[in-house]
Amino acid sequence: MPATTAGPTVHLRAAGVSVLLEATEGRLPAMVHWGPELPGLDEESAGALVAASVPMVGPNNVDVPLRVAVVPEHWTGWSGRPGLRASRDGRSWSARLRVTSLEVDGTPVTGWYDGGPGTLVVRATDADAAIDLELVLELLPSGVLRQRATLTNTGEPGLTVDDLCVTYRIPTEATELLDFSGRWGRERLPQRTDLVSGMHLRENRRGRTANDGATLLHAGTPGFGFAAGDVWAVHTAWSGNHTHYAERAFTGESVLGGGELLLSGEVRLGTGASYAGPWVYGAFGHGLDDVARRFHRVQRSRERRVDTARPVTLNVWEAVYFDHDLPRLLDLAERAAALGVERFVLDDGWFGSRRDDHSGLGDWVVSQDVWPDGLAPLIDRVVELGMEFGLWFEPEMVNPDSDVARAHPEWVMSARPEWPVESRHQQVLDLAVPEAYAHVRDQMDAILTEYDIAYVKWDHNRDLVEAGNQLDGGRAAVHEQTLAFYRLLEELRAGHPGLEIESCSSGGARVDLGVLERTDRVWVSDNIDPHDRQHMMRWTTQLLPPEYLGSHIASGRSHTTGRIHDLNFRAATAVFGHLGIEWDLASATEAELAELRPWLDFYKAHRDLLLDGEVVRMDTADDRVLVHGVVAHDASRAVFAQVVLDSPRHQPVTRITFRGLDPERRYRVRPVLPGGAPSGLRPAAWWGEAEGDGASYAGVVVTGAGLALVGLASPSLHPDQAVLYTAEAV
Ligand code: GLA
Repeated sequence: MPATTAGPTVHLRAAGVSVLLEATEGRLPAMVHWGPELPGLDEESAGALVAASVPMVGPNNVDVPLRVAVVPEHWTGWSGRPGLRASRDGRSWSARLRVTSLEVDGTPVTGWYDGGPGTLVVRATDADAAIDLELVLELLPSGVLRQRATLTNTGEPGLTVDDLCVTYRIPTEATELLDFSGRWGRERLPQRTDLVSGMHLRENRRGRTANDGATLLHAGTPGFGFAAGDVWAVHTAWSGNHTHYAERAFTGESVLGGGELLLSGEVRLGTGASYAGPWVYGAFGHGLDDVARRFHRVQRSRERRVDTARPVTLNVWEAVYFDHDLPRLLDLAERAAALGVERFVLDDGWFGSRRDDHSGLGDWVVSQDVWPDGLAPLIDRVVELGMEFGLWFEPEMVNPDSDVARAHPEWVMSARPEWPVESRHQQVLDLAVPEAYAHVRDQMDAILTEYDIAYVKWDHNRDLVEAGNQLDGGRAAVHEQTLAFYRLLEELRAGHPGLEIESCSSGGARVDLGVLERTDRVWVSDNIDPHDRQHMMRWTTQLLPPEYLGSHIASGRSHTTGRIHDLNFRAATAVFGHLGIEWDLASATEAELAELRPWLDFYKAHRDLLLDGEVVRMDTADDRVLVHGVVAHDASRAVFAQVVLDSPRHQPVTRITFRGLDPERRYRVRPVLPGGAPSGLRPAAWWGEAEGDGASYAGVVVTGAGLALVGLASPSLHPDQAVLYTAEAV
């Protein structure tokens, strides 16, 4: 029985991925397949496949075959989490949606469709409940499938929306999960668990993406790694409260899902009003690197692609903190320019009464006390020195001890007359209040208009706790706040074309593709200790390509962990992102500066590759040693790093392998040591002669297959040391 007679069957294909959906019998679309490309499908064979995938009617189940739509519906017998939960004061709580139209790239589809990449738009209605649902499923050229759902109230006012999630069907073979947790200073800690019956649910109620955010939830075949196994992943592209989940029903049906997490009563729709959920992205790949590369392609294909010649940045935070002393900052700018720094960023402390973190937040007016002549004396000099200037803001926040909070206590987000518990001595400004929004926008706009500012570091340093709208009786307002935050970003960008914005939130607590549609890089973490950063960079690249990761070289002793690291290790860690310095250069020794300069030169010489290539992370048997790199798209060259985090398990008979190059081409692999030899170095025999005062070695010429499958003998290094290797096709 070909299923195609009963309604649309859609096969979308892109970059080796297939999505086969059926929306037969007027039902919401269900994923028959989401995974590797299915070659050779035509109407007949697709219809047969759809028919053949219909499960039997199980004993003691509903008397119809179970079928899970991308927005799963309770009425079908699905006893797992429904995609939509909405009601009218407890009535009309179980939607039964019927498809009214289905289009691919704007053309109605009633039967078989095969093509892609492309956009499927499905409209459905439940006349009894008086709701319409629009589903958009977009298979991007990267093979990433993103989905979003929009609900419209077509009836009486007062439809409360509790939840609207979209799901991706995954096969039963995907039995292992990987997602992330973390905390301040240690973002994106991977965690693995089995997918068992029931739900693995990551709920975020922190009002920001959060440093313990799931970021991505992967399900894969047993033992999946960077190159091994089949992996399916979802990412909820939303900077407010949100969910990621994996669910396995008793029936065996399994899904990955995501959406916004709505607080009680947060979304109530009047007649004709709509609620749009966020984009939820899904990527399938062979191994985690493949999944990551697909996400990188998404980010790299956005309208405003960042330049791969990203400027070397100096951020003054760990250099001066709140000590805004003009002569000191001018001296720092001179030193930075002399080293080859290209962007100078003034951090917290330039405005209002903000001499420490107890006051002034929210008053975006240059402080007369510390900047009697405004910021011009600094900015003019920075620009004269050939650098761009960047400035810190924390637009959504206020200290209670600020002019704005004193004048408008009603603009502080709160669920009750008393304000929420403080965090970093601050409260959240309710941007959904038009006057509060206008206040921030106008003050920021005035600064951005008055001065030559190329870059904004946009911070957000507390969770949203009891974040309600005081002017509306304390109604929950995180949803509105998140939308207002996006609006503010968009408005300021539109008013200041070319302005770059960094998404920072107590370090790396706002890293998601929602904010990254509107910003240009993230601050990965407040912890710049390279030992910890190796892990955080490694895992943040699971979502974002390296050019989006703010990555600084800090002082020898880490301000966060107190550990001391050689400059070599700090720099070899930082060059795999958007490089910067966050260090009081006045306290650096001549020897340190002499070592730092060649690292900046190395970055500049290689950034076209470092910030554009394909990320490769090797699966190593010994997790004390990491190997990762970046390979040019045409596989003509690559840069790899061997990172020794702790004394290796075995020595001396260990090899390092490099994946991602052309198996048949030959490459000259050279060890490169821009700042000199790392501590404890005992080169391997194949390194050959040192060249250029030991800045590199002659190396060896080997095939790509030899590098990937046989490998090169490892040198020996002390713990917390790294060596870089360049590979160039000969
Ligand atoms: C946050 C940021 C830091 C710095 C401080 C300033 O913690 O993550 O980089 O900007 O705020 O107060």
